[in-house]
Amino acid sequence: MEKFIVQHSGPLRGSVRISGAKNAALPILAACLLTQEPCLIQNVPPLTDIFAMTALLRGFGAEVSFDTAAQTISVRAQQLSVSSASYEAAGKMRASFLAAGPLLARLQKASLPLPGGCPIGSRPIDLHLKGFSLMGVSNRQEHGIVELWCKNLRGKPVYLDFPSVGATENLMMAAVLAKGVTIIENAAAEPEIVDLADFLRKMGADITGDGTDTITIRGVKELTGAVHQVIPDRIEAGTFMAAAAITGGEVCLEGIGEELLKPVIAKLAECSVKTEATSAGLVVCRKSRLRPVNVKTMPYPGFPTDMQAPFMSLLTLAKGTSMITETVFENRFIHAGELQRMGADIKIDSRSAIIEGVEELTGASVRATDLRAGAALILSALAAKGETEISDIYHIERGYYQIDEKLRQLGADIRRSESS
Ligand code: UD1
Repeated sequence: MEKFIVQHSGPLRGSVRISGAKNAALPILAACLLTQEPCLIQNVPPLTDIFAMTALLRGFGAEVSFDTAAQTISVRAQQLSVSSASYEAAGKMRASFLAAGPLLARLQKASLPLPGGCPIGSRPIDLHLKGFSLMGVSNRQEHGIVELWCKNLRGKPVYLDFPSVGATENLMMAAVLAKGVTIIENAAAEPEIVDLADFLRKMGADITGDGTDTITIRGVKELTGAVHQVIPDRIEAGTFMAAAAITGGEVCLEGIGEELLKPVIAKLAECSVKTEATSAGLVVCRKSRLRPVNVKTMPYPGFPTDMQAPFMSLLTLAKGTSMITETVFENRFIHAGELQRMGADIKIDSRSAIIEGVEELTGASVRATDLRAGAALILSALAAKGETEISDIYHIERGYYQIDEKLRQLGADIRRSESS
């Protein structure tokens, strides 16, 4: 298994191109199942999660080809021959459950492995099922498989107890071909939801209110093929902003504007990290010592939970005490233990982490426990004295395209090696 070896790196400098958003591409690829016609999805990063989704779509009978050099995927789901997926095909990735909405809309049935828990929490699907059930879908769970079926999908008002991103996406995809009007209240408002709605509208769907907490979907008879370019990845961008900040460098992010990053830019500014929108891209720089801040993760437009771990890395080196409160996931502080091994001073109290800034971190052997935790370890390693060895980097590669190469272009000392 591969690992990253990272040496202390001076201030990062230069430009980096931000890839397409994995979290927007995954539901959009699932939505391609909603039409018999060909769809072309552009700006899709060649990540392991994306390959898992393309394999899943093929399993249902769709023709899929991925031009990884052009980062373009074409999907044609002319005939869907299968409505079920095995644990091997789908169980490794939670987003595979996003196929449920489109399969119900096209075939009135779906059988998918129950997405298991993961290191950051139990991650149930009760909100997806509650919404489907209001739309006339029955479900049964047996042997780790969720079976869903309906006679006809009916548009209905659905109130979500929590603005779940996945549940909002799944319900939108089921509702576009349902009979009648679906109103999702307390819906997630993430930019990835808006990107999915934009794609669905290009296919002929009637959706309004996406990007707010109330989304209205009027069902249509059928959808057509469409061409769509995925939005840039705001979490990858935020991670590179944190890399510039932690090394005291100056980095230009190409291909993304301020709009998607407002909560991150605001918190970075409090930490004394400046961001400026220029014609070349978003320029991030830090010249003085990091200041401590309090951060609370929230659904969009609050501070994104996916930026919590990278931000914790930054705050370990701030001058003073910071507090991070995680409200979205129940167990998303596992990286704190690994950061402590690098000399960070962090105390966890339930859903809050108290971080006393230290003068320096030191390199150590650490393990990426999940995707964003792994990114946080890379950031700390860039600033730490000496060498850091990060194992289990397959977690990182689920969500960051060529992160090592992109960091090297900015002057970071990071290389891959085989673990023994
Ligand atoms: C998506 C993102 C993930 C991000 C998260 C929150 C993708 C592929 N992944 O995940 O990177 O961290 O949004 O911004 O887009 N919940 C329930 N019942 C449900 C569904 C969710 O209780 O039926 C809870 C979850 O356990 C969690 C919270 O709601 O505590 C948020 O989950 P959700 O917004 O659904 O996240 P995902 O869509 O899985």
